[in-house]
Amino acid sequence: MMSDAARESSTAAGGGRLLTLTAGPPAAGGTFVARHEGRVVFVRGTTPGETVTARLLEDPEERAAARFWRAETIDVLEAGVDRVPSVWEEAAVDGVGGAEWAHIALPAQRRIASEVLQELLRRAGVSSFPIEQVQVEPAPHDADGLGWRTRVRFAVDADGRVGMRGWRSHDVRDVGANPLAAQAIRDLRLGEWTAPEGTEAIDAVAPSAGPAAVVLIGRDLDPASVTIPESWGDADVAVRTGRGLVPLRGDGTVRERVGERLFAVSATGFWQSHRRAAELLSEVVESSLRAPRGGSAWDLYGGVGLFAAVAAAQVGPEGSVVTVEGNRRASQHAAENLEDLPQVASATADVTDWVRARRGGVDAVVLDPPRSGAGTELMGLLATAVRQRIVYVSCEPSTLARDLAAVEKKGWRIVDLRAFDLFPHTHHIESVTVLERTKG
Ligand SMILES: C[S@@+](CC[C@H](N)C(=O)[O-])C[C@H]1O[C@@H](n2cnc3c(N)ncnc32)[C@H](O)[C@@H]1O
Repeated sequence: MMSDAARESSTAAGGGRLLTLTAGPPAAGGTFVARHEGRVVFVRGTTPGETVTARLLEDPEERAAARFWRAETIDVLEAGVDRVPSVWEEAAVDGVGGAEWAHIALPAQRRIASEVLQELLRRAGVSSFPIEQVQVEPAPHDADGLGWRTRVRFAVDADGRVGMRGWRSHDVRDVGANPLAAQAIRDLRLGEWTAPEGTEAIDAVAPSAGPAAVVLIGRDLDPASVTIPESWGDADVAVRTGRGLVPLRGDGTVRERVGERLFAVSATGFWQSHRRAAELLSEVVESSLRAPRGGSAWDLYGGVGLFAAVAAAQVGPEGSVVTVEGNRRASQHAAENLEDLPQVASATADVTDWVRARRGGVDAVVLDPPRSGAGTELMGLLATAVRQRIVYVSCEPSTLARDLAAVEKKGWRIVDLRAFDLFPHTHHIESVTVLERTKG
């Protein structure tokens, strides 16, 4: 039964009416579909088939005409077969966000994610690939889905307490053991530290080569007010204020190793978060891009050049690769990281603008856009410009599905689509889709 504390906190959080709901199939955002008096309710914190007490997130009177409501589980009345004790107690109701499936058995998380991905592809009208074959695979050697997150954004409250924001809340909550974070981030023990006045957030990074990094973020934060605690060991430390990045120890850059190659990345810049992701995705891109020797390739949304390195090895010194990235610092890092590969050029630009301005085509393209996806304009441009293969790396299946449907209409077909659980205990899905022309 619902504890007094949960009932009290539901009121304290301004929560709405309590409903008894039975969860059905998965929906977007890690929720599950239930029905109340015929109306759809998207419920968070449950599993398929279980009956829960859930708190409505909106006022049912105000949303009387709405097609659906949203609710959050506050008590389990009849547990579903996929429910397990949460791997992160602090991520339960009224806890931190970012681990909304921590109470679901890991194989069931992957089964549910596969259903979500398949449904999104079906709904978008993707038709050139047997969608029922798409299954989310675990990352290699990831037995428990813990200790994988190499980038963690902590929140800081007005008293300098370090934690994480609650789901749909600005309150800073205790992270407890923070079990999804890489060991090097847990070792920093940020939850026990009091941040100096003016600290708004903290980025902690556990790179695969070299020490961890801590970046204190605050518009008016005074770098002189930071005393580095012993628990941070040899971690690099920097402060990011409204005026830019001030390194206190190290140079504000971390190093990542993929195979034999080292990549420099800004401590606050983008790098694949799961500790096995960069290597895994590089291997999948390597086996699927097939850029011809002496040919040409583009690495779009290239970051610091991860996939450009793969493309450069395929085209060889006689070929050419352009890596296109909008963030100036990341683009500079890409140029430096790949300076031993004269066949690679680095462009700082908006990807769609850059592709629109190209004359002539390219043999192969790998693109890895942010969650908003590539968009139908870019997919249309690529459908014309690319001669052989497009490899689309995606972290958001809804925009991927839209973009795949768009490029299918332009005469392309999917020859492979693999999905990976690179965000265990969350609903997020990474995938790599390989496309070829159906006509010349
Ligand atoms: C998902 S990351 C991929 C980075 C890289 N492929 C990797 O795996 O490390 C997306 C990258 O696209 C960049 N980006 C986002 N929107 C962009 C745009 N419109 N034009 C160019 N780059 C963009 C971001 O700065 C980020 O580095």
